[in-house]
Amino acid sequence: MSPVTDSFIIAIDGPAASGKGTLARRLAEQLKLPHLDTGLTYRAVAHALILANEPLNDEPTAIAAARRVDLAALDPAILADHAIGDAASQVAVMTGVRQTLVELQRQFASTPPGAVLDGRDIGTVVCPDADVKLYVTASPRERARRRWNEMQLKGQDVDFNDILRDIQNRDARDMGRSDSPLKPAENAHLLDTSQMDIETAFTQALAIIEDARTG
Ligand code: CDP
Repeated sequence: MSPVTDSFIIAIDGPAASGKGTLARRLAEQLKLPHLDTGLTYRAVAHALILANEPLNDEPTAIAAARRVDLAALDPAILADHAIGDAASQVAVMTGVRQTLVELQRQFASTPPGAVLDGRDIGTVVCPDADVKLYVTASPRERARRRWNEMQLKGQDVDFNDILRDIQNRDARDMGRSDSPLKPAENAHLLDTSQMDIETAFTQALAIIEDARTG
């Protein structure tokens, strides 16, 4: 596929460990577009609060932390921790935090030549006019298996059932919150990766994008 020439926005949403992050990275590389993992912005807020020994549910403090988020300084190596993901989903229920981060994310998306953004509310809230919207999912058990494998590879010995429970709790928090709950946008293409490897998911996503660009 040829590189994208005009401004083009791809919105990818889905629950924890659905494979949306890997897919977003690969698509951005293929299409020569900048990529923003918006989960890192929520993680950065949670991480700053944890470092400062601040509670995760105090909105003014969390908003102040969100205002200090610098997209150029997000470090996935520091923010990838499983526990930071859980803390991120707690700060992500606060409307003031979301407004601050969504503003940053929109600026990133609207800068030519466009971008690939992945998260929970990209197609529904951040970029409702995105050129292509994908909703990537997989069964909770399969997602827990992937996360557990990743952690084993990093040498972290964790119980599978604890990971499954964390995934289920996070789904409930992300799908149940009143502001920007996780759900497929009306015109999103659904990609259930429960039985798919990343290569298959990538090929299917590229075909959907190619259709949108030529159609
Ligand atoms: O990588 P993983 O899917 O585990 O999580 P993440 O994408 O880094 O997101 C961490 C948490 O941030 C999620 O559980 C959401 O609560 C929150 N988040 C959000 O509310 N909106 C986004 N656009 C991205 C993440």
